[in-house]
Amino acid sequence: MNYISIAIDGPGGAGKSTVAKRLASELGYHYVDTGAIYRTVGYHMSLMGIGPKDKDGIERCIDDVNIQIEWQDGVQHMFLNGQDVTGEIRTPEMSMMASGVSAQKCVRDYLLQMQRDLARTQNVIMDGRDIGTVVLPNATVKIYLTASAEVRAERRFLELQGKGEKVKFEDVLKELIARDQQDMNRAIAPLKQADDAFVVDASYKNVDEVVAEIKDIIGRKVAAL
Ligand code: DC
Repeated sequence: MNYISIAIDGPGGAGKSTVAKRLASELGYHYVDTGAIYRTVGYHMSLMGIGPKDKDGIERCIDDVNIQIEWQDGVQHMFLNGQDVTGEIRTPEMSMMASGVSAQKCVRDYLLQMQRDLARTQNVIMDGRDIGTVVLPNATVKIYLTASAEVRAERRFLELQGKGEKVKFEDVLKELIARDQQDMNRAIAPLKQADDAFVVDASYKNVDEVVAEIKDIIGRKVAAL
């Protein structure tokens, strides 16, 4: 049996995970957040005292990273060597750490099959940076979800403030742009639009509108199968 796979790629803060979660629940598909997997690798490296650009250190330690993913009440939990690190990986530091380690070939090679296996046995909505271009090049539907840097930074800023963190808007914007640059310009599997992706610009749309637009695209594609 062929399963349906929906790839949603795009820069950080565009709303991929919020939209993907909603779509997954409305369509009854399984949501996979691949950024969380890179964050878990980044977290391991930081625990080991290894920097995001330390190629030799990352290569030396990557085989010690044992990742398990479990879904509990619809929430994706990440386990690193048996420990639940779902909360620990959601910090601005881990965003940059994940972006750094994700540029290393050994990390991408290590995680590729894990991601493909998740889409082999169930209908999935998978979000990330290279899902439509590398992980699932034959995905049923590919979406490139984007928004202006200012709008994305504003959302991140409010989200962090909501968590009680003291952050400055300018710092959030600066970090977001730095991460975009890093993710778009790396040599392996950079963030880019797949040729056959539908581009959705969420700059001036709310979540409901974005969900409706993507649902419509998926509906048309699936009906034509
Ligand atoms: O989606 P996110 O912000 O949780 O992702 C964190 C970092 O992980 C992102 O800056 C780049 C990397 N990443 C990647 O290289 N490929 C993916 N498919 C998903 C994330």
